[in-house]
Amino acid sequence: MRHMIAALCAATASGLALAALAEPDDQSLAVDGVELVTEIKASDEHPLDMLYSGWRFRTDETQALQTDDFDNPAFIFVEQAVDAWDTVEGEAGKSCAECHGAVEESMKGVRAGMPKWDAEAGEVWSVENFVNRCRTERMQAEPWKWDKADMNAMAALIGLQSRGMPVDVDVSGPAEPWFKRGEEMYYTRYGQLELSCASCHEENYGNMIRADHLSQGHINGFPTYRLKNTKLNSVHGRFKGCIRDTRAHTFKPGSEEFRALELYVAWRGEGLAVETPSVRQ
Ligand code: HEC
Ligand code: HEC
Repeated sequence: MRHMIAALCAATASGLALAALAEPDDQSLAVDGVELVTEIKASDEHPLDMLYSGWRFRTDETQALQTDDFDNPAFIFVEQAVDAWDTVEGEAGKSCAECHGAVEESMKGVRAGMPKWDAEAGEVWSVENFVNRCRTERMQAEPWKWDKADMNAMAALIGLQSRGMPVDVDVSGPAEPWFKRGEEMYYTRYGQLELSCASCHEENYGNMIRADHLSQGHINGFPTYRLKNTKLNSVHGRFKGCIRDTRAHTFKPGSEEFRALELYVAWRGEGLAVETPSVRQ
């Protein structure tokens, strides 16, 4: 890892890695027979011309795991969340289902618009924040920890109800300063390697960074099952890992910084289909 980033860094510094971008192969993703948008022309304000889902950059074997829910290892965790949805927990004696009914109905479309401004909190909130407000205030149960198994499984179950829908976030009004902050973070060079998100995911997508085929770093498939750690990984968990790879001090999952970055990164993927739960290397 260290060598590959050092090499990338040297290449970036000398301008070599900024040569012609390799577009991903022309492939289409059908999950259980339903076609998902993995490639779309970006809006005029977007720094990129074409948007590609991270799925397009994976190997044939990894891609195949996502085309059938029986083969997709993420579904073990989704099933656990289906049970959790119906489980009574906390002093109020309630389950998610008692208030929300069927998850397929009540959570349809929710993920496609996350993160979003919450007027009561006066902040941009990720899906995890909403889940924990229900747990603590409405169920009087313990909050779930960010980027841990229970939370990631529930986020996957909720995300699945938006599968196939286009990512579409509201970055206007009170969310705008968050969006701007996220944008600034995206172009900030972190760590000893002085790499920004854009250094890898905007300027070098399509290139190989050792054995990894660099994608545009979209979050339309999150939480994602990674073959590397054989579990679900949250958006903020991924951000943390990417920043740490530049040998920088990172932010905490759930922090304001990561929610701002999530809003901006979600916007960068607008129009791509929600793929949750995706499979990555
Ligand atoms: C006592 C009733 C109650 C319980 C129990 C409850 N919720 Fe909620 N939940 C609400 C209400 C009310 C809202 C806010 C209004 C809305 O968006 O439906 C909400 C909102 C949400 C949202 C945000 C939806 C959106 O469109 O922004 C999510 C996600 C959510 N709940 C998940 C859960 C999960 C997961 C559980 C179980 C761990 C749960 N809720 C338990 C009542 C409840
Ligand atoms: C040193 C290069 C590098 C930097 C800098 C970097 N990443 Fe990554 N990132 C990677 C690699 C390698 C992967 C795995 C392959 C891929 O999906 O692109 C990855 C994956 C991701 C993914 C998962 C994409 C998917 O489809 O599953 C997201 C999201 C992401 N990065 C966001 C970011 C953000 C936000 C930043 C800035 C805070 C950042 N990355 C900085 C190298 C980098």
